[in-house]
Amino acid sequence: MAVQVEFQKSGKTTTWDDSHESILELAEANGIEIDTECEAGMCGTCKIRLLSGKVDMETEDGLDEDDIKQNMILVCVAIPVTDIVLDA
Ligand code: FES
Repeated sequence: MAVQVEFQKSGKTTTWDDSHESILELAEANGIEIDTECEAGMCGTCKIRLLSGKVDMETEDGLDEDDIKQNMILVCVAIPVTDIVLDA
């Protein structure tokens, strides 16, 4: 079954497909603007809180312990594993 990605603040829900390399790309394709810098999981600029669901991240280098406790993810290196809801 297709995985759904909900951008809660933006009021948009869209279907994940593997043509996107990251949740960031999916967001941009849907006109949702997310601040970024490195786009490689290093700087933490793109972090967004994951409200529900699971993602896979290539690296968590841009997150500190507090971020991880708060369920922040780096959307530039994250892909959804289950349906997810993002605070974006
Ligand atoms: S833009 Fe730097 S960690 Fe995502």
